[in-house]
Amino acid sequence: MAASLRHMRGTKHRLSRLWRGLRDCNAACFTTSATRNKGLVLGLFEPEEENDNASPSFTRATQNFDDKTKQKVTHHLQLLKKNLKKGQTRIFYDLDPEYSSVAVTCVGKKSATYDEVEGMDMGRDQIRAAVASSVRQLQDIGETEVSVDPCGDAEAAAEGGHLALFVYQELKAEKSHQAHVNLECFNDYSSNRDKVIKQWKRGKILADGQNFARHLMEMPANKLTPSHFVDLVNTRLTNTNRCSVTVRDRKWIESQKMGSFLSVAKGSVEEPFLLEVDYKGDNPSNQNPLALVGKGITFDTGGISLKPPADMDKMRADMGGAACVSGTLLALGNLNIPLHVKAFIPLCENMVDGRSTKPGDVVTAMNGKTIQVDNTDAEGRLILADALCYAETFNPELILDMATLTGAIDVALGAGATGVYTNSLSMWEYLQKAGSSTGDRMWRMPLFNHYTKQVTKSDLADINNIGSGGRSGGSCTAAAFLREFVTNKQWMHLDIAGVMMNKSDVPYLSKGMAGRPTRTVVEFLQLLSQR
Ligand code: BES
Ligand code: ZN
Ligand code: MG
Repeated sequence: MAASLRHMRGTKHRLSRLWRGLRDCNAACFTTSATRNKGLVLGLFEPEEENDNASPSFTRATQNFDDKTKQKVTHHLQLLKKNLKKGQTRIFYDLDPEYSSVAVTCVGKKSATYDEVEGMDMGRDQIRAAVASSVRQLQDIGETEVSVDPCGDAEAAAEGGHLALFVYQELKAEKSHQAHVNLECFNDYSSNRDKVIKQWKRGKILADGQNFARHLMEMPANKLTPSHFVDLVNTRLTNTNRCSVTVRDRKWIESQKMGSFLSVAKGSVEEPFLLEVDYKGDNPSNQNPLALVGKGITFDTGGISLKPPADMDKMRADMGGAACVSGTLLALGNLNIPLHVKAFIPLCENMVDGRSTKPGDVVTAMNGKTIQVDNTDAEGRLILADALCYAETFNPELILDMATLTGAIDVALGAGATGVYTNSLSMWEYLQKAGSSTGDRMWRMPLFNHYTKQVTKSDLADINNIGSGGRSGGSCTAAAFLREFVTNKQWMHLDIAGVMMNKSDVPYLSKGMAGRPTRTVVEFLQLLSQR
């Protein structure tokens, strides 16, 4: 034992002498890599055949880097006892003076593509996951600049990297903060470098949109009140220039006879708002606007039908629909997508108070329909009812709403996909296609009359805010309720309660509020703009 300790000390001494020598020498030839904090992510593809001695193939970037460093990547990979499997990453040091570390990551098979059963482009998603895990590991060892192998899909690589780095830490002591990491697209000398850079930028914009939604969703409800939401989103969207924002206050909401919305806001000391955003890209391709509507309950206690205490803190994200609409608008502006889009975001708290709405109360929505509020925890549909009616007054070509509407959609689909209800097959096809490309998937749910019958039975009013079927089909009856407030031929309702949070479902999103399905909605709108 003593001997081995002595040996170790001896080794350490020799190493430090060696290091001093190297440093003095390096100072003369080039900046030492150790001072640069710059990492590199390189991709590998798994062998196509399940054959043990087949070796992985390099991406273009990895091949170039291997050539440049006189086969150091090849050499280091040969030193490993096993080939890297999909999703595995190894970090190597001292391969090249420009990078203090290199993360080599196995992306999966090069041939991976759209999978019918998964309903997703597997090739793109495995790039997101591999880049995400590499970037996180390089951040962990202290790199602050990381160059990323585009892996044949720079957009997916940029998404994975930028989504993986998101963290909500503004309320924690600065000394505990994770350092900011700047990502760039590695130049693999492909002939279409301009196109690659364009894809990379698009991926970053999509991730930034989703990260903006995550930021809003994570913010605690005492900070992100309806009025603060309005300020934050107004500032952020006005900076992108292509949006104009109108803030509607309680007086205006009353003047529009939005009794359903107001009945939810009644129990709170925070003022309700309806945020109206008008986005116009250059040369919009549509005549009538596309309308986006987002549920903006900044906190949902359930009201008098109070929620149980376990996990109630998560109800700070009950404005997830509003957040995803905001993230979508941010990305639309940054991409200058040629569309005219109008967004409507009703914002308020659902609280318990002497003024709160009581079970059995009847309220009147903007379209004159009366609603018996049998459960004050089914409040999302109440604020959306009026927002949908208002959106219709602009004669939109399409209305798409997003809402963390029901626990039932989480029971049905979990975090696997957003539940989509729509009266338009063609719009569904565009949206599903968008989801299969972004990896943030969609699943179609029924808008049967069967469910409508369950919400149009009410003792006192035209409609009841809960279905007569009890918990059965809870997400479907919520959609049927909303349908009573829409006459538009093209309407889509996205129940996003199941995808609100990430546990460890999506590898490139960390734990916490997910901002899903922002990227899918942006992709969908882009598809519509290209019709
Ligand atoms: N905000 C909730 C839905 C929710 C649940 C979102 C879990 C995210 C995670 C919504 O306002 C609600 O409470 N819905 C009720 C409806 C019921 C009373 C008909 C529900 O899902 O239980
Ligand atoms: Zn709610
Ligand atoms: Mg509720």
